[in-house]
Amino acid sequence: MRVQLIGLGSIGKNLLKLINQKGTDIRKEIGEKIEVVSVSDTTGTVITDGLPLTRIIQAKEGGGLRTLESFEKIDAMKAISDLESDVVVEITQSTKDGNPGIKHIMRAFETEKNVVTANKSVLVSSLDLFGESKEMKRSLRYEATVCGGLPVFNLMDYCMKTAKIDSVEGIFNATSTFVISEMEAGKSQPSARSEAIRMGIAEKNQRDDLAGIDSARKGTILHRRIYGSTMSLKEADISAKESEIAVGLRQITEVTSKGVRVEYRKVAGNGIYSNAVGPAMVIRFNTDILDHLTLSTDHDGPLESAATVLNDILLSRSEKAT
Ligand SMILES: NC(=O)c1ccc[n+]([C@@H]2O[C@H](COP(=O)([O-])OP(=O)(O)OC[C@H]3O[C@@H](n4cnc5c(N)ncnc54)[C@H](OP(=O)(O)O)[C@@H]3O)[C@@H](O)[C@H]2O)c1
Repeated sequence: MRVQLIGLGSIGKNLLKLINQKGTDIRKEIGEKIEVVSVSDTTGTVITDGLPLTRIIQAKEGGGLRTLESFEKIDAMKAISDLESDVVVEITQSTKDGNPGIKHIMRAFETEKNVVTANKSVLVSSLDLFGESKEMKRSLRYEATVCGGLPVFNLMDYCMKTAKIDSVEGIFNATSTFVISEMEAGKSQPSARSEAIRMGIAEKNQRDDLAGIDSARKGTILHRRIYGSTMSLKEADISAKESEIAVGLRQITEVTSKGVRVEYRKVAGNGIYSNAVGPAMVIRFNTDILDHLTLSTDHDGPLESAATVLNDILLSRSEKAT
């Protein structure tokens, strides 16, 4: 199974490490090897051609991809167009207008490749990528876009077929929970914010995490999926403010048929929100027959998201001929 990787940041590096580490298990599981054909970042593309993945990670963490012999100064769009593969993994950073992610994904569909992404911003623009993937008869997997390592869409697809989802709520952003709970443990806000960046859990622009934009993106993706809407990020009601951050608060997102709301709420006592500390996430489905189905994790970060992306890659294999 041939994979092209676009973006080699926190998730990308963890993904290469996992493919390397789990290679034998994957081969047993699917009967073939995952072959990473190319890796692109903003500087260009490495055409791997059997190069050990560990060398690519070392180069990225050292002098950059350009230090590798098989580095070419071709951008991701050209790499997607020119190289053969089965799946394009799009994990560039989330942006205001969804680009360059949307362009990468559309080029992948045009060249008859399936797509796996963790990039939230591509799913909340005015372009309906769910519709585009159907139209182009390609698969689009995006499990890691909402609550990274928690199985949100697979749960909906495989375990909730007859349940009517009335609403979804939770803590969808690990960075805000991490920063506030570190402050509760006596650390300063600047040091907690720096630590979130070091851990790779923060968005490129940390304001996206702390001012509720990252949560609103996730809420909007859920709204589109659950209610079949065309809601855009602009329509989300974000009252969370970066300046509001204080101990005793958690950033809570609510998704109902009426829309998406993100706010900092006071939490106290022994509850699912007040117990969320560190890079924790919580998602609760309020449904007619499964009641308040709740998933939570104490730790969500780039490794967990990379594991979810890897799972999506394996799932997309059986969708080769859609
Ligand atoms: N980190 C998490 O825990 C997490 C969890 C779930 C979802 N996500 C989402 O997943 C995506 C990736 O997250 P991340 O934390 O890995 O991001 P990141 O560390 O900021 O890495 C982004 C990568 O994209 C590359 N890139 C940017 N523009 C590019 C272009 N035009 N062509 C090729 N490569 C390009 C960057 O290249 P350079 O290295 O050259 O700058 C970088 O390697 C984001 O959209 C984020 O919202 C993140």
